[in-house]
Amino acid sequence: MNNFRYHAYTDIRFGKGQVNCLPELVAPHGKKVLMVYGGGSIRKNGLYDKVKELLADFEVFELGGVEPNPKITSVREGAAICKKEKIDVVLAVGGGSTIDAAKVMAAAAYYEGEPWDLVVDSSKIGKVLPIVTILTLAATGSEMNKNAVISNMETNEKLGTSSHYFKPQASICDPEYLYSLPAMQTAAGTADIMSHIFEQYFQKDSGAFISDRFAESLLQACIKYCPIALKEPDNYEARANLMWASTQALNSLISCGKGGAWTCHPIEHELSAYYDITHGVGLAIVTPRWMRYILKDETVEKFAEYGRNVWSITEEDAYKCANMAIDATEQFFKDCGIPMTLREIGIDESKIDIMAEDTIKYNAMDKAYVALDKEDVANILRACL
Ligand code: NZQ
Ligand code: ZN
Repeated sequence: MNNFRYHAYTDIRFGKGQVNCLPELVAPHGKKVLMVYGGGSIRKNGLYDKVKELLADFEVFELGGVEPNPKITSVREGAAICKKEKIDVVLAVGGGSTIDAAKVMAAAAYYEGEPWDLVVDSSKIGKVLPIVTILTLAATGSEMNKNAVISNMETNEKLGTSSHYFKPQASICDPEYLYSLPAMQTAAGTADIMSHIFEQYFQKDSGAFISDRFAESLLQACIKYCPIALKEPDNYEARANLMWASTQALNSLISCGKGGAWTCHPIEHELSAYYDITHGVGLAIVTPRWMRYILKDETVEKFAEYGRNVWSITEEDAYKCANMAIDATEQFFKDCGIPMTLREIGIDESKIDIMAEDTIKYNAMDKAYVALDKEDVANILRACL
């Protein structure tokens, strides 16, 4: 097993009514709060009013309108408010996009230069304002992790940055806030959770038995509960298990003792950078094609293990079992209603080469589970058309 750092830092308040803890979670950090949110879903489901009511004794400034695939332009706006109003704490209310944007705003509050520098070069991130979140979408794990992903549409770049100081001080995770999600966001969010697990599970064997068994149980939770949440949006058990799966899938628990670079996320980030698509949809399209592309003697046992432990496939032949597991993965995404080809979401072959080139430029694809070069990435993208 590899060496690792595991620092479970964020105070998670999980379950019905936990939003009432908000004043107690914000108060230690000060009175001046920047409340960051997205395009309006929290106004529709009543969360906006609830937060304002709970923070009546605080001085609350607001930045709404953070976009899916959050843009650096929003980060600049938030950073300017933090500096001008001498904000004490940033409160993100929303999905991963809102939380990610809030993280970089909180860092840019202490940075004299252009906020995009902090995305391109995480070593420039110094002090960060305290961050508290209220999660409304089960997907990214941003509520408990050190990552933020920001897009710059002028340069067609979507890049991840990270800092241990980005870890939220506290996150409120009430599954009832997921009831209002559109079906496609529920499905795409689940595909994102599953992809986070795949990226960590499919790595060179380092004997991290416990991490892999955790990973398999999280995958089973997604497979069991996403269809239920799609059919019954207000099924609490389904929403609760998906929400907890999203947090545990990317808070470093299942990467303990494992290592290596990711594959599908770097490829998907290029699709988003050029076409501004929904992250989880891009991942669902890429994942089965990537799995098939890298299936060979060196990887077949791991894919068969995935088939046996996650999908309960009893086929003894390793290749047959692996292929059945990959087919089951693709069928699952289809059954969740996700469009499964790039053409269906308006992407043709015209930018495949540049996206493949950028994937290699920005990521250590040579350190992935199976090392990929530009031609490999282009081949995988062509298989997605
Ligand atoms: O903007 P509003 O109006 O809030 O609507 C959002 C948005 O349109 C809506 N939504 C969120 N909660 C809702 C809701 N609608 C109704 N009811 C609710 N309860 O859903 C849409 C998508 O929201 P977004 O925040 O963009 O989704 P998600 O949480 O999937 O975040 C995606 C972003 O996170 C990045 C992705 O690349 C993408 O930019 N990632 C961040 C990671 C991290 N920080 O660790 C890792 C991930 O791999 C990922 O790259
Ligand atoms: Zn993701």
